[in-house]
Parts: sequence; structure tokens; C-alpha cells
Amino acid sequence: MDRRRFAIRTYGCQMNVHDSEKVANLLHHAGLDAADEAEADVLVVNTCSIRDKAEQRLYTDLGLLRAWKAERPGRLVGVGGCVAQQQGDAILERFPQVDFVFGTHNLRFVPAMVAEAARGQRSARTEETRDLDRFDLPQRHPAYASPSPGRAFVTVMEGCDLYCTFCIVPQTRGREISRPADDIVAEAQTLADEGVCEITLLGQTVNAYGRHDLRRDRADRAGTVAFAELLRRLDRIPGLERIRYTSPHPIFFDAALVRAHGELEHLCPHVHLPLQSGSDAILERMRRRYDRESFLGIAQALRRARPDLTLTSDLIVGFPGESEADLQATLDTVEQAGFADSYSFKYSPRPGTKAAQEPGQIDPGVAQDRLERLQALQRRLTLAYHRSRVGERTEILIEGPSARARRGGPAQVAGRDPHQRVVNLAVRVAGDAPIPQPGERVPVEIVDATPHSLLGTQIPLRAVKTAAGSADEDLRNAVLSVSGPGSL
Ligand code: 5AD
Repeated sequence: MDRRRFAIRTYGCQMNVHDSEKVANLLHHAGLDAADEAEADVLVVNTCSIRDKAEQRLYTDLGLLRAWKAERPGRLVGVGGCVAQQQGDAILERFPQVDFVFGTHNLRFVPAMVAEAARGQRSARTEETRDLDRFDLPQRHPAYASPSPGRAFVTVMEGCDLYCTFCIVPQTRGREISRPADDIVAEAQTLADEGVCEITLLGQTVNAYGRHDLRRDRADRAGTVAFAELLRRLDRIPGLERIRYTSPHPIFFDAALVRAHGELEHLCPHVHLPLQSGSDAILERMRRRYDRESFLGIAQALRRARPDLTLTSDLIVGFPGESEADLQATLDTVEQAGFADSYSFKYSPRPGTKAAQEPGQIDPGVAQDRLERLQALQRRLTLAYHRSRVGERTEILIEGPSARARRGGPAQVAGRDPHQRVVNLAVRVAGDAPIPQPGERVPVEIVDATPHSLLGTQIPLRAVKTAAGSADEDLRNAVLSVSGPGSL
């Protein structure tokens, strides 16, 4: 029999993206091959439930996947991620087209569940564990093709114990649990040996890493260290040029972590620092555990430690009871913090969270209007920030064709600078000039700024380092085929 082929559809945050990578790797180890959905025998939908809209995607998808299954007998559909964690068996009961359901702590059972499903046995596994088993995953299989050459995620902790009143995460990701530092360092070391030059440490509240162990005086036994110390150890790994982490919570920026931003050579000058609201009254009711002033204090301390630091944020408008004055406080704080960019959302009541039961739910039209005003302010700040970067020399890590090139625009590749901004780079597709490949680091000068990205030109005469093992996908052809020679 032919080898089975799998495809994974991913919604949601970077943790979900990384969970999909882990599932893909496990399926490779189980002898399956990756394929497009059109060719696949097994399709996994990795779901998100952070807002209602995200959750609804699953139900739309499952409707459409009936036809996908009917096209070829023996096809299997699996549902994982945050909706799966919450709904479990109910998904199997409601949707006969689903063959297996796995929660966020049960990735390692997916290959067995696929095998059972192939024998006609449907199953759901959503049990929450408090042990470290879930981090026990195999190394990258030789057939595993990284979707991001040169870059990799590394899980350092999972879960969240903070219970912000709007947030579903404690229910979908469970209690905080941190991996032993030695395991994290060993994984980062292996990735560096494989040619990865940028790692992003992941956790739902990533800088809460190890805090319970330290507080309860059991860090030695658990093998954890303070987050700043973990960064320090990773900073010493040869080959790792860029270290990032996401998403931190403002209350876990202690003096050591702030100092690390000034001292560690490879820690990137970017922090994603979710503010959520700039109104003290709303922050209190969100149970964020900081106020506007202390948030701005953290931002200032970070900038003092690292003057070129770029800050980005997450914001929610239309939280129950939010007044026009509250919104104004958010706009003021965003401006004062000088976020280079932010993700902003309309509050979405999540079943079972405290805020969903509160009075004063905001009219959707009012929330929409507030969102638009916030986003207009952010666009202005982003453009101003981008303009301030023109003339600067930096280095970008290439990701692939730029968004404009993919839409048939000019021949460009895109990469990220250390500040995590997108920098587009014009490439010559005629002649012999090599086109920078995904995973390569290229020195550039920033020559122009747009609301969404920066434009760079390659600085010649400097050796360009290549991440070993970077995909040899022919970017020249990719660029040519999307833009057509006419537009060069
Ligand atoms: N409604 C709207 N946005 C939310 N977020 C989390 N929960 C909700 C919700 N119920 C946003 C927060 C968080 C980001 C990942 O999603 O801004 O930081």
C-alpha cells in the first residue's frame, strides 16, 4: 500500500503554528509524508478559540470537509487545538465526518489516533496532564521540511495561571508548566547545529517561565531557572544570532529581564508587550494586574536598557463597560508607549470567562468605530516609526517572495530585521546575480518606508552568511512565476 499522506490546516497564534509543526514531525516519524490537501489522506485542522470568529472557522471548515472526504474513500479528518481541547467528544458526536480529536496536551498521541481511525475506531483525547511528558517529542525527522528555514520555535513553558477576565487560554491550555532549562538549551543547540540562526521562545506567558518553581523553592528539582538566566544560557550558543520570545506578560519583567535586554548580544531589540487597554478602570476589570503608569514604566525601563528597542502590542476595544473616556485613555497610552505596531481586536465574549457575564456589553457598532479609530492611530504611528528607520543599516533574515511579489507585483524578496519588521528587497531576476534564499541573512540599507513595511537595498561587498540546510527552493522561479517577466 502507498504511504499515507497528511496535511495540516492551522489557525491562531504561534503556539498553534508550532503545535502543527510538532504534529507534522510526529507523523513523519510514523511513516507518513507531507502533501497538499488535495493529495492528502489525512487532514488535521488545528483550531483556535481566542475569539468567536476563530472558533466559527472550524464549523465552516467541517461543513466543507464532508466533500473533501467523499472525494476519496479512506480519507480521515482530525481536529486539534483549542476548540478540540474544550469540546472534546462533543465534536465527534456532532460531526460524523470527524475521525479523531486531540487536545493541546495530547499531540504525541496523534500517530496512534490516526492508526486507530484508519481501522474505523474514532477517538477523542483531551485529558490535561501536569507532567512534562507532553514536551517529550522526537527531534526533527530528516523528511520534515521546515516552513521557515533558518528560524525555529522552541517551547519553554505552556499554560497560563493568570485568568484575565476576557481570556479563554487558561481553559484551553491549562496550568502553567515549565520545561527544564537543560532540555530547552539542548533543543536550541541541536537547532543551531542544523543551521537555525533565529529562535523564538514560546509560551502563553513566556516570561512566567519557572516562576512557580522559584517561588516554591523547587527550581533545582524541576530543572528550571529564572527566565533572564535561561536567555543568558541561550545567548552563549554558537550559531544562534537572534533570540526572541513571545508572548510575555508585563508583570513578569523583573530587573534581571530588563537588564538582559541591554546585555545579551543576541537578544533581539523587539518586545511584544500586550497592553490590552490604557484605562486603569478597564485594566482592573480585565484583571491585568498592572495600571497604565506601571506599564509605561516597564516600557521606559526596557528602552533605557536598550535604546533602539521596538515595542509592539495587543489591544482590546469594547470590553464590557468601556466608556469613551476609557477608549481615549487607550489611545493616549498607545501614543505614549510609541508602539511600532499592534494587533487590535473587538472584545469577543468567551463562554465560561468572567467578563462574558458582566453587564455593560458594548454595542458592536460602537466597538467597530473604536477599533477603527485605534487602528487609524496605529497606522500613523507605524508609518512614523518606519520613516524613522530610513537610512539605517541592518540585516534581514530572508523569508521568501514579498507579499507584493506574491500578488504579481515587482520582483522582491522579504525578510525580517532584528526588530521583527518586514523589509522588502528588490531582486534582479535577469542575469546571474544570486537571489537571496529563505534562511539567508542579508545586510541591507533601509531606503524607503510604507505603512506596512520597509524597503531595503542590499549592501554589497560584505559576506552574506547562509543558514546551512536552507531550502533550495528556486526563488528565482517563484518570483518569475508570480510576477511574470513583464513586470521586471
Ligand atoms: N476578545 C478579544 N480579544 C481577545 N484576546 C484574547 N481574548 C480576547 C477576547 N475574548 C486578544 C488579546 C490577546 C490576543 C492574543 O488576543 O489582545 O493578547
